[in-house]
Amino acid sequence: AIDLAGRHFLKELDFTAAEFRGLIELAAELKAAKKSGGETQRLRGRNIALIFEKTSTRTRCAFEVAAADQGASTTYLDPYGSQMGHKESVKDTARVLGRMFDGIEYRGDSQATVEELAAHAGVPVFNGLTDDWHPTQMLADVLTMTEHSAKPLEEIAFAYLGDARFNMGNSYLVTGALLGMDVRIVAPEAYWPAATVIGLARALAETSGARVTLTEDVAEGVRGADFVSTDVWVSMGEPKEVWDTRIAALAPYAVTMDVLRATGNPGVKFMHCLPAYHDLGTGVGREIHERHGLTELEVSDEVFESAHSVVFDEAENRMHTIKAVLVATMAKD
Ligand code: CP
Ligand code: NVA
Repeated sequence: AIDLAGRHFLKELDFTAAEFRGLIELAAELKAAKKSGGETQRLRGRNIALIFEKTSTRTRCAFEVAAADQGASTTYLDPYGSQMGHKESVKDTARVLGRMFDGIEYRGDSQATVEELAAHAGVPVFNGLTDDWHPTQMLADVLTMTEHSAKPLEEIAFAYLGDARFNMGNSYLVTGALLGMDVRIVAPEAYWPAATVIGLARALAETSGARVTLTEDVAEGVRGADFVSTDVWVSMGEPKEVWDTRIAALAPYAVTMDVLRATGNPGVKFMHCLPAYHDLGTGVGREIHERHGLTELEVSDEVFESAHSVVFDEAENRMHTIKAVLVATMAKD
């Protein structure tokens, strides 16, 4: 079994392709064990701090349930519930928490913060989402792809549509490149990942055999895809005012039934890390709908609720994959 004792998970490229695949295999084993009632607790007596400077449903719950299943405790620190960043430096917080906990999860805007925690904590640190990367989400998405495709990973093609210059776009691009997949980023060029991220992906592809495509053309980008995914057009921490420019730029990249048909693959699956604006009857979605008269944002309700959609398997897999990270990095045996 895979052993990543003491290792951090700050971004996808902290692990080799073999290690990443090993985590997916471990997650599948842990999932099967839980479903059969035969899970072995390997984290008894372990304590994990969960620092959330941004809100979360899936990531927080995944860490808490995964830890509980494995016999570990968790302490949740909400955006206002600790001294970090207000009265105390990240470095001092890391050194304090490292004396009490066996692992630390961090979600916030800055990748530099999670790296600073890792540099000083003395225990494994896990990135639960920053503006740059969402590595635990990638484990869940890859596990979900393996469950919904009979193909080996290197033969799977997936297209990500929408805002690709933020965590999800960056993470998909490097993960696909690392694992030797056929990864397509489909967005206006201004919304592609930064040149450095594209460079990383192209360099990885040379050894992994990945096919890396960045295109503004939806039809070309999705042709033959096994999976089509998207994310919100405005991410946590961004001002509401950017909605107008995002809508103007990204409306042609909404995932509709026409987009799924353009894959030419009747069995194509739809993915979304969630939360999603698919039902424009409530909240921000409703405001946008009323102001812009749009019938959908990043994904239509029809696609989201269709048989193509595997978003709730993907959400469930956050828990099994995060459990794999905790076991691989923190188990005693
Ligand atoms: N996908 C994801 O990270 O969801 P949460 O923001 O609810 O954690
Ligand atoms: N890009 C989104 C992902 C949420 C899981 C955000 O950062 O808000």
